[in-house]
Order: sequence, then structure tokens, then C-alpha cells
Amino acid sequence: MKQTVVLKVDSQQPDIEKVQVAASIIREGGLVAFPTETVYGLGADALNPKAVLALFKAKKRPLDNPPIVHVANVSDVYGLAKRVPLKADKLMREFWPGPLTLVFKRSKTVPDVTVAGLDTIAVRMPQHAVALALIRETSRPIAAPSANLAGKPSPTSADHVFDDLNGRIDAILDGGPTCIGVESTVLDLSADTALVLRPGGTPLEALRRVLGDVKLHPFVAAEKELPLEKTRSPGMKHKHYAPNAQVIVVEGAISAVLAKVKELAESYRLKGVKVGVLATDETLAAYRADVVKSLGSRFNLAVVAQNLFSLLREFDAEDVDVIIAEGVSTEGLGLAVMNRLRKASGYNIVKAG
Ligand code: TXA
Ligand code: MG
Repeated sequence: MKQTVVLKVDSQQPDIEKVQVAASIIREGGLVAFPTETVYGLGADALNPKAVLALFKAKKRPLDNPPIVHVANVSDVYGLAKRVPLKADKLMREFWPGPLTLVFKRSKTVPDVTVAGLDTIAVRMPQHAVALALIRETSRPIAAPSANLAGKPSPTSADHVFDDLNGRIDAILDGGPTCIGVESTVLDLSADTALVLRPGGTPLEALRRVLGDVKLHPFVAAEKELPLEKTRSPGMKHKHYAPNAQVIVVEGAISAVLAKVKELAESYRLKGVKVGVLATDETLAAYRADVVKSLGSRFNLAVVAQNLFSLLREFDAEDVDVIIAEGVSTEGLGLAVMNRLRKASGYNIVKAG
């Protein structure tokens, strides 16, 4: 058991001495969690195979699911990728720093373990002063998956990281809550057509405005479990975002959803099951359940995204057995929210109406 040190820093102007402490831990092969604009990441030196192996172990992450490599300058991409297509230049100019991860054919200089033996690498430049300062002070690309135990909801605060990883990692840079709340969009540029492997903080609509032709991998919008051979991103096949409680997602027109959620909540309550309802501001008052929480207004998907993971963790803290969640629109950030909710439910989706 290690002692995990928590270093509190300002999210806009982090104390450089604390960042330097964190950077030297990473340079020496250690593990440091840090905030990004999406979720907290767990960082290791991407070029140090031992450190990256320790990263997988600390998270209990399967070795076939590679982390994203974080950089602080566009020029760093050229050392990691074998080929950077023109499309990528356009996207990096438009969206970096920001919640967009690009998948390239990888350079041989990257250790195999960092890319889980794939011939591609996922890279992004985060838009967060703490993350950027840490990468610069480390002077290395930083491999960083989300800083949760594998399978759990991603952490949007340092407390979430602490709850999952205390004693398993060296330090946490605590820069307060993250602002986007869902992870970056993962866009594969390693083949001819740009393909979204994971919807996230950069909406599909925004990518299409810049690139025109962008396809969605069938897994992304899936409403049921698809056969594994169709996966292109290793992360797709692993269990994800799951709280301890069983999650049921109810989708459809809002009035039908409301009626169905009420009905399900009531029938579980009668069976003596502790029920949580994940509602929205518009419907919150209508429900009776053991625990009812709102994601925010269903017309403000940025707020819904921001609250999603921390509410799933709150339900666990209240020890509910079942979470009945309202679906929201799949436009904009809603696609990322619904992808996480559906996965968290193990595709236990009820169509209302
Ligand atoms: O917002 C984010 O992306 C956060 C912050 C910390 O930057 N990071 C994050 O990392 O969510 P992680 O490891 O939890 O998710 C990375 C995703 C996984 O689904 C993984 O399978 C996929 O990216 N991935 C990584 N390398 C890949 C590759 N070479 N090809 C396809 N998918 C890849
Ligand atoms: Mg993750």
C-alpha cells in the first residue's frame, strides 16, 4: 500500500512547485492523477514501459485496452504517429486543446505496452491549465486513462479518484471538479474515412462541420450489445461506467418516459428493492422513490453531461439496488451521455410509449 499524496492546485493558475513535484514523480516512473477538462486522468510516462504497466495494474485495467497519450504541443504528435493525415491538421487547429482524441498509425518509438500491441495510437491535447503544465514540466508525453478503477464511472473530482485509487497511486493533483464531465470523443483517422469510436466532449455535429464525412462506429449508437468482432476500439468490449446498482434506461417521448419510470419505480418498491431515479429538472417532482436525483434540465445537455458520473457515484453511496434513468436527446453532448448510460445499464433499455 502506497501513501497517496493529494496536492491541491488552482485550476487556472496552478502552483508550479506542486506541478513540478508531480512531474518528477512521473519522470521517475510513478503515477499521478490530474484534472483535464473532461474527467481526471491517471498519468504515467508514456515512453516508460514499466510505468505504463504499473498504470494498468493500479486501475486493474485489462492489458488489451490502451490509454490515451496526452501532449502539450501539436508538434509532439509527429514523434508518436507514423503518419499525420491532412484531416488531422485541420482538426487539431480547430479543436485542440480540447476534448478530441485522434487515432493515428503509430511510430515504432512508442513502447508496445502503451498501445497494447496495436499498430495505432490515440493522442489528445487537453484544455486544462493543470494538465498542460504537468505535461510541459514532465517533458514527456503522458499516457492517461480515466483515473477510476476499471469498469467504474469516470472521476469528475479528486474525491472520486481518491475513493477508487487511494493507496494504489503516488499522487493526485486536485484542481477541483472537471467542467465537461464526459470523456473526449475518440476519432479514428488511421483509415480513409474518419470514424467516431467513442462519442464524447466534441459533438459529432461539430466534427462534421469541419470534415464533412465522419462515420459513427455501429457500437457508438448501439442500443444492444453487438458481436465483438465488430469492435475497432478495444475499450468497446469491456464493461464500463457501471455503478454497483443495476441500471435501467427508459427512452422515448418525455410523457411516456415519465409514466414508465413511475411504473417501474413503484413495482420495484413493492418488491422491497431500494430504488433510485435519475430524473431531469422537468420531471423531478413527479417521482416517488427512495432516492431521486436530477441530472439538470434535459434542455441543457452540457449540464447533464457534467453531472452524469458524479450522480451515478452518489447513488452507490446511498446503496440503492436499482437506478432507473431517464433517457435524454442524442443530439450534441447527448450522444455521449446516452452512450455512457446505455453501457452502464449493460443495454438494459426500456422503450416507453
Ligand atoms: O477525456 C478523456 O479521453 C480522458 C482524459 C483523462 O483525457 N481519458 C480517457 O481515457 O477517457 P480512457 O483510457 O479511459 O479511454 C480511452 C479510450 C478507450 O476506449 C480505448 O479503448 C480507446 O480510447 N483507445 C486508446 N487507444 C486506442 C487505439 N489505438 N485505437 C482505438 N481506440 C483506442
Ligand atoms: Mg475510462
